Amino acid sequence: MGLRLGDVAPDFTAETTEGTIEFHKWLGDSWGVLFSHPADYTPVCTTELGTVAKIKSEFDKRNVKVIGLSVDSLDDHQGWIKDINETQNTSVNFPMIADKDKTVANLYDMIHPNSLNNLTVRSVFIIGADKTIKLTLTYPASTGRNFPEILRVIDSLQLTANHQVATPANWQDGDDCVIVPAVSNEEADKKFPKGYKAIKPYLRMTPQPNK
Ligand code: BEZ
Repeated sequence: MGLRLGDVAPDFTAETTEGTIEFHKWLGDSWGVLFSHPADYTPVCTTELGTVAKIKSEFDKRNVKVIGLSVDSLDDHQGWIKDINETQNTSVNFPMIADKDKTVANLYDMIHPNSLNNLTVRSVFIIGADKTIKLTLTYPASTGRNFPEILRVIDSLQLTANHQVATPANWQDGDDCVIVPAVSNEEADKKFPKGYKAIKPYLRMTPQPNK
């Protein structure tokens, strides 16, 4: 069975473009995004890795470490990074795991043989500071991911972790948030000094607490 939300993200030691990484130790107190791509020297992956490099500061701002993975060799990663830097006008600035023996891919169930035989699909795991899995996403090889959406989810998850609010459909940074059901009205009065609107007893909206 694959990994589920709330599970501890499996620890591993792996060779990466930035040296050997012990995953949990490398994460330290940060949040993490572990994402796989099918193969080096492929077009959609080239655009994805370039995009992540360009928005790395957005992950840094949120105390999130990013790490990529495919089942290619370190040599291939290093050669391909030159192409990514050249064609995407960037400089890859995060580690990429060279998972040639598929240890990490199997640990995280990133190979879906009925979709893409022997290669990793486009998996994303967002991992909280407590090392548990907060989000999983799986995209097919043919669709490049929407990384602003991944940042948006991180913002939502961190609001929940820090302020006990959830975020409604299509929420964007700065929009009103939902007070989680576990917070009573009495607690909400204290916790949300900007106030809240109870549209229904179970649907209470409050201005985004960290704005
Ligand atoms: C790509 O990155 O373009 C790609 C990789 C594997 C299969 C199909 C597309």
